[in-house]
Amino acid sequence: MQKYIIEPIKELKGEIEVDGAKNGILPILAASLLSTEPCVIHRVPSLKDVSVMLEIIRHVGAKVERNANSLNITVPEIKDSEAPYKYVSQMRSSFDVMGPLLARTGLARVPLPGGCAIGERPIDLHLKGFKALGAEVEFGHGFVQAKADKLVGADIYLDFPSVGATKNIMMAATMAEGVTIIENAAKEPEIVDLAIFLNKMGAKISGSGTQTIRITGVDELKGCEHSTLPDRIEAGTFLIMGAMHKSNLLVKNVVPNHLKPVIAKLIECGVTIEEEGDDLRVINDGKINAVDITTLPYPGFPTDLQAPFMALLCLADGNSTILETVFENRFSHVSELNRMGAQIKIEGHSATIKGTTKLQSADVKATDLRAGAALVLAALAADGATTIHEIHHIDRGYNELEKKLRNLGISISRV
Ligand code: EPU
Repeated sequence: MQKYIIEPIKELKGEIEVDGAKNGILPILAASLLSTEPCVIHRVPSLKDVSVMLEIIRHVGAKVERNANSLNITVPEIKDSEAPYKYVSQMRSSFDVMGPLLARTGLARVPLPGGCAIGERPIDLHLKGFKALGAEVEFGHGFVQAKADKLVGADIYLDFPSVGATKNIMMAATMAEGVTIIENAAKEPEIVDLAIFLNKMGAKISGSGTQTIRITGVDELKGCEHSTLPDRIEAGTFLIMGAMHKSNLLVKNVVPNHLKPVIAKLIECGVTIEEEGDDLRVINDGKINAVDITTLPYPGFPTDLQAPFMALLCLADGNSTILETVFENRFSHVSELNRMGAQIKIEGHSATIKGTTKLQSADVKATDLRAGAALVLAALAADGATTIHEIHHIDRGYNELEKKLRNLGISISRV
């Protein structure tokens, strides 16, 4: 088990670059299974989750060549319509391969993703979509299987704008007969990017980024070239890091439009955010106002930045509240932040944070990816060296974090 030892900093100055989006690249890798022709994808972050998805698509038949940050993926044939348990069990978004496998071969078998650190996370909406397209869905021996002689377009209403279900149904419907309409679809930028990628492959998708997505089925998809969009959650994490200190930090390679609620809340905290083209500058004098936050599906405040923002609010002047509405159990970082001297109380889905002037160094553990990011931010504002255990969670989603932080003069070591 590796751990981080992080020394606190007093002031934060310099530049930090954002990489391609983890949650953008994962469905795009799955979507490359839809064609026999090569897909070339640029700005691919080197993350644990990306390696897991590559193992899965290789297993089912993809040939993958890496050249620096670009991937060339060709899938001449699907050799196996079953995704192996040893990979799927590591990452819930492995389930993204279900739609493409079903669309390309009429059969997809994927182990049930099960519960995870941030809640049960069912897949009922994905399956509702596959069934509406004409697939027979069965469970057995820990697998979910979807099978169809042919898929036929349908009107599908999602009870909740699930990111995963929207992606999977969109991919499954690309080669269905006729028109599919997804109502109450997720509007996240990663959905829009996936639709752009699929349209480059020859799909006919309109309305992505709105609540109604329309997919007109085509006979086949071809290869294409694409660059992954910047990771808005990584960008948000760095902006929040800047806000926690006396700082003048340039966060590079950002789409400011994707971060509107985060920027708005940082400004409410008293932080200055300046737009400089594709970069955002965060300037603060070290003072932070208390604010209230409610996580929501996009374009609301992202649940993936709830934990990092909570680390910031630990240092605010006054009491803040955070209401988590997307996941039922995403407060595992609270006990760890409290070990560092934070004063956070949870009641149901709501956390009340009583601001303090200084956090204390301690031994803490990352319980999931974003909880881990919150602890890194808290460690930088502590009164001594903090040890963060179980950092494999952080490796899932932050590309070259140590290198990026060291460039800012931060002392961080992996042990
Ligand atoms: N849900 C259902 N039924 C379903 C699907 C989802 O009830 O069939 C519920 C979930 O249990 C959850 C809520 O809907 O309570 C949101 O789930 P959603 O499907 O929208 O999320 P996801 O696709 O599982 C993606 C990201 C998450 C991010 C959420 C919300 C990827 C790989 N994962 O998950 O990212 O938190 O959307 O924005 O894109 C992370 O990066 O740390 C992360 C967890």
